[in-house]
Amino acid sequence: MAAARMPQVLDRRLALDMAQAMERCAVAAARLRGRGDEQAADLAAMAVCHREINQIPVSGTLVIGEGLEGECEHLFVGEALGSGGVAVDLAVDALEGSTLCAKNMEGSLCVLVLAEAGTLLKVPGCYMDKIAIGPGYPEGIVSLSQSPQDNIRALAEAKGVPPTEVSVLILDRPRHAGLIDAVRKTGAAIKLITDGDVAGVVHTTTPEKSGIDIYLGLGGAAEGVLAAAAMRCIGGQMEGRLVLDSDKKRAQAKALGIRDPSKIYKLEDMVRGDCLFAATGVTDGALLSGVRFGREVIVTDTIVMRAATGTVRRIATEHRDFSKFRLDS
Ligand code: FBP
Repeated sequence: MAAARMPQVLDRRLALDMAQAMERCAVAAARLRGRGDEQAADLAAMAVCHREINQIPVSGTLVIGEGLEGECEHLFVGEALGSGGVAVDLAVDALEGSTLCAKNMEGSLCVLVLAEAGTLLKVPGCYMDKIAIGPGYPEGIVSLSQSPQDNIRALAEAKGVPPTEVSVLILDRPRHAGLIDAVRKTGAAIKLITDGDVAGVVHTTTPEKSGIDIYLGLGGAAEGVLAAAAMRCIGGQMEGRLVLDSDKKRAQAKALGIRDPSKIYKLEDMVRGDCLFAATGVTDGALLSGVRFGREVIVTDTIVMRAATGTVRRIATEHRDFSKFRLDS
């Protein structure tokens, strides 16, 4: 069953501008793959991302960015970006999985979300507890309000398989020791990833390809909103709850208008209207291939999604005008 759609506000053609921006960003990051320098790759991606988003014909406000004003030169929260046009919220991770890029490991990508103005959840720099499953299941069968065991059992029942045939994706972190124990008790299989939970959440939407049925655990809150935008486009279910474990984070959340610090956000609370999502692979991964550098061609792999229609486009691009990739162009 197709996911419920929302009225179209954002022009489809913006998706191509977003794809082009992410392609250029990914090429900049990919030139620094495997150099062991996360910061250099991040900075290169941010600079290009900033320049390219400024070419997109929107009047954008950055809601999810690389830090607060004063913390980073480019892409700070609240920054006005775009060359002018419809008012939008922007969310970006110029290099999602910077460690993956620095180590040339699978799964780093550049991500951009464009949403109706005022519709993206503003989050402080904190973790978000996340749960996500793909489309086709009854609404609410899994929830952060239930234990991991109950979620696995409910999902298994809805899928018509025993829990041993459910596959769970979790970030490999010491903080997840209890979660991993709880999931193992159900007999479900766990796949651990070292980084990159935007793609991790998206993998749940194609279990037949990715082998992943459910995403569980704590990752970045910003990445949570980015992933929620993708889920709004493809369909599926996701919940997020902010981890506000210090006075500073609680104060930041309050300043952003978050009244209930333990609220469980559903997809529709994180992305409240029409949105577009674009991501380009930097290193190879299950979602996207990494950038390929040939003698006369650079090849990029991009995915673009629209919430209004649920369309997911795959764009394999051969670039022959290398001047577009110069950092000073
Ligand atoms: P960065 O690219 O900012 O390093 O994020 C990578 C990532 O793995 C995200 O995908 C994830 O949400 C977050 O880090 C998890 O944070 P932590 O590394 O602190 O566990």
